Amino acid sequence: MVDKHPAEKHLWWQTGVIYQIYPLSFADSNGDGYGDLPGILGKLDYLKWLGVDAVWISPIYPSPLADYGYDVSDYKAIHPLFGTMEDFDRLLAACHERGIKLLLDYVPNHTSDQHPWFVESRSSRDNPKRNWYLWKDQNRDGGPPNNWLSVFGGRVWEWDENTRQYYCHSFLKEQPDLNWRNPEVQEAMLDVMRFWLDKGVDGFRVDALWHVAKDEQFRDNPPDPDYVEGEMSPYRRLMPTYSGGQPALQEIVALMRRVTQEFPERVLIGEMYLPVEELVRYYGRDGNTGIHLPHNFQLIVLPWQAMDVFAGINEYEASLPAFAWPTWVLGNHDKPRVASRIEPEQAKIAALLLLTLRGTPTMYYGDEIGMEDVNVPAAETRDPVAKAFPKSRLGRDPERTPMQWSAEPNAGFSTGEPWLPIAEDYEQTNVEKQKQDDRSLLAFYRRLLELRRQEPALQIGGYLPAGQKKNVFAFVREHGETTLLIAVNLGGTRARLAVPRHMDVTGEIILGTDPARVGGKIKEYVELSPDEGIIARISPSDE
Ligand code: GLC
Repeated sequence: MVDKHPAEKHLWWQTGVIYQIYPLSFADSNGDGYGDLPGILGKLDYLKWLGVDAVWISPIYPSPLADYGYDVSDYKAIHPLFGTMEDFDRLLAACHERGIKLLLDYVPNHTSDQHPWFVESRSSRDNPKRNWYLWKDQNRDGGPPNNWLSVFGGRVWEWDENTRQYYCHSFLKEQPDLNWRNPEVQEAMLDVMRFWLDKGVDGFRVDALWHVAKDEQFRDNPPDPDYVEGEMSPYRRLMPTYSGGQPALQEIVALMRRVTQEFPERVLIGEMYLPVEELVRYYGRDGNTGIHLPHNFQLIVLPWQAMDVFAGINEYEASLPAFAWPTWVLGNHDKPRVASRIEPEQAKIAALLLLTLRGTPTMYYGDEIGMEDVNVPAAETRDPVAKAFPKSRLGRDPERTPMQWSAEPNAGFSTGEPWLPIAEDYEQTNVEKQKQDDRSLLAFYRRLLELRRQEPALQIGGYLPAGQKKNVFAFVREHGETTLLIAVNLGGTRARLAVPRHMDVTGEIILGTDPARVGGKIKEYVELSPDEGIIARISPSDE
C-alpha cells in the first residue's frame, strides 16, 4: 500500500499556489479589446500546464469602471464586458473539472456611487439606507468633518449639495464607503459572500480590508513626521491612525470568517499593507476568527538586497502565531511589476523565493514570462490614480497591460484594439516563445511548480535560516527525512556561502536558475554565479 502524500493532511490553500488574473487584460474572446470570462476559460489549460492550483480574479461585477471594477454597482451579477452569469458558471465548472480552485475579489469597504444602495442613501436624510454609508455634517467652520485624506488624492469627504452633508470615501468620490457598524450593512454584505460561496466559489481576496473599520468619533489623523514631499503619495502626509484598522475590524473579520466556515475548505485572503507585527494580528486569536491568509507584501516592499530580504523573511517567520499559515506575494495590479522593480536578471531569483519560502504563494499574471511595466502614454491612461497624480509613478496602468500570449498581432490577446497598449517587446517576451525555450523564465516557473507539488518539504516543510553573506543568503526547508537547501545570489558578482558548520552536509543540486547546474554536488559551501539560485537535496556528510 502506498502512503498518502503527507501534504494531503493540509488544506488546498496551504499547499497550493494561487495565480492572480486581472480580467480586463488576460484574454479577450470577442474582439472588443477587453479581456473576459470566456477568454479566461480558453486559457485554463495553460494554467493547468503551468501547474497552479487556484485562480483569483479581480472584480468582474457590474461597475461604471471608475476604478476598473473596484467600484461595484451590483455584487451579485457579472459585468456584460466580462460576459454573463452562464459564462461565469461555465468557468467555475471548468476550473473545478481541472482541479483548479476559483477565488473572487470581494470589495467590502465601498460600493460604486451608482449602486442602488447609495442612490437611495443620498436621496434624502431620512431614507432608510441613509445610515448605510458614512454621512457627516460640516465642522463648525463650514469645512469637512475631519482631516482624513483619500488614498487616491484629496480629502475623503465629498459634499452632497442636495442633502447638505458630506459622505466619506477612502478612495475615489465614486467609491462611497459603507458603514460597517450598521448591522443591516453587515447582513447585506455577508449575504453577498453566501451568494458566491453557494455557487461553489472557493473563497475571496478581500479588498482594502483595513479601511473597513474607522474611528467611531472620526478623530483627526496625526501628521506623519517621515513624510517626504514629492517622493511619497500625498496620502502619506498623515498617519492613518483613525481612518482604518480600529479594534472593530477584528469583529468584522470574525463575521466574514464565520460565513466562510459555513462552507467546507473555503479561504479568505486579506489585502492589508501593514508592518509585519500588525499584519499578523489579523490571523485572529486562535485560528478560527481571523483571515486565513493576510497577504504579506514583504517581497514587494523590501529593498532587493540580500540583507534586507533575508531579515524581512526571518522577521515575518518569527512574528507568525503558531497556528498561522504564511503567505507570499511578488506582484499585483497595484504595484510596479517585479521584473521592473528589480533587475530582469533577478526575475528567476524572485520566482525561486516566491515558490520555495514557507507558505502559500500568489503569482501575478504575466510575471511568469517576465512582463515588465509598460510605458503608457498620457493620452492612453486609464487608471484614475495616474490621472490624479500625472507626474508620478503612482499610476497602475503599466502593470495592468494585456497578457503577452504570442508574437501574433496584439500579442494574441485580442483581435480588436486592446484597452491598454501592449508591451513593445511582445514578439520576444511571450508565452508561446518561452514554452519552446528550456532556459526561459516560464520553463523555470513550471519546473519550480512541479517540484513544489512533488516535494512535501516545499509545500509543508519547516523553514530554517541557513546564513547570509553580502549578496547571498540561504535557507532550509525540511520535512521527514528530506532536507532541501535553497541558496540565492541577489548580486551581479560570483559569490560563495559556507553552509553552517552544524549542518555538515553534502548535497546535490536538483533545480537551478541555470539548468546546467542540475546534478552538481555541493559540499561545505555553495558557489553561485551572478544572479544565480539553486535548490539542493542535502544529506548528512559521510565523512
Ligand atoms: C485595493 C485594490 C485597488 C483598488 C482599491 C480600491 O487596494 O487592490 O486596485 O483601487 O483597493 O478598491
